Amino acid sequence: MRAVVRRRYGDPLEIRETPAPAAGPREVLVEVRAAGVDQGVWHLATGLPYAVRAAGFGLRRPRRPILGLDLAGVVAAVGPEVTGLRVGDEVFGTGDGTFAELAVSTERRLARKPERISFAQAATVAGSGVAALQGLRDAGRLRSGQRVLILGAGGGVGSFAVQIARILGAEVTGVCSAAKADLVRSLGAAHVVDYATGEPTGRWDLVLDTGGGRTLRALRHLLTPAGTLVIVGGERGGRWLQGSDRQLRAGLLNGFTRQHLTGLLSKATAPLLETLAAWMASGALTPVVDRTFPLAEAASALDYLRAGHPRGKVALTL
Ligand SMILES: NC(=O)c1ccc[n+]([C@@H]2O[C@H](COP(=O)([O-])OP(=O)(O)OC[C@H]3O[C@@H](n4cnc5c(N)ncnc54)[C@H](OP(=O)(O)O)[C@@H]3O)[C@@H](O)[C@H]2O)c1
Repeated sequence: MRAVVRRRYGDPLEIRETPAPAAGPREVLVEVRAAGVDQGVWHLATGLPYAVRAAGFGLRRPRRPILGLDLAGVVAAVGPEVTGLRVGDEVFGTGDGTFAELAVSTERRLARKPERISFAQAATVAGSGVAALQGLRDAGRLRSGQRVLILGAGGGVGSFAVQIARILGAEVTGVCSAAKADLVRSLGAAHVVDYATGEPTGRWDLVLDTGGGRTLRALRHLLTPAGTLVIVGGERGGRWLQGSDRQLRAGLLNGFTRQHLTGLLSKATAPLLETLAAWMASGALTPVVDRTFPLAEAASALDYLRAGHPRGKVALTL
């Protein structure tokens, strides 16, 4: 099968013929129709920040040469112990090495794709949609009627978060560049702040931080006295931690203030994917795909993500 590989961190991405994987007894083999491209893929391609390597992805070399985690596709084979999915089912979720024609996953990492949603859209959900859901509902304990501030509202996680916060009944303020203001409003934000011309002023029950790299102190100033801060991530900071020290410091400070300060480590599981699938099926949630690239242009897709300020998400299609 064709797959996008890199043998060492930072090597140019190549498309190569590689042996096709097979489904083990509890595994599902998916014929990949689309794969999500996000900042996490770039981190695993480059091995930066170095903290990523220490997190089990391979210290000196990538443990898995094939890139990609998010997918949408059609079940091609199931192991004998798989009971909930059959060959031919259309699914989305995560797999091992999804920038490839075939990828292995499990029932616990997949859900059925709603008909209303394209494969490209569905392929963007497991990373960004799940992070938005867990960040707002679980880590953020968002309740109906609360006011939420979403930093990076027009990006991958942010474009899901604005919609999910609305579904959960919150009043949303989105912070983004001027080019994305119309998108963020159309997704349901009541207020939009262009970060180039001014910082948000006010206090929010929940702040979800997905971009901009503001200091912990600046983020806390945006919270009500008992408000909640969820730091999802950001692309600023040094090569060792890339700003993840903010999450660590938030965790340390958390016990000493009335505010609730936390980082997020999201993980796509079938129940989370099914919640998102139900919202997508009803039309309440629609993944925003800015642009798709063919598998062979994975490197261009990553360049576009890093430099192009996409509106919402980027995906590879096969
Ligand atoms: N913790 C977890 O489990 C988890 C899960 C998923 C993602 N992440 C991390 O979360 C971060 C966001 O991911 P993503 O996929 O949403 O990235 P993304 O698509 O690049 O979105 C980030 C957004 O931040 C915006 N931004 C830049 N500067 C800003 C500022 N000063 N104020 C407000 N917004 C600003 C960007 O807008 P412009 O392009 O218009 O400048 C962009 O839309 C990444 O670092 C990713 O690795 C963490």
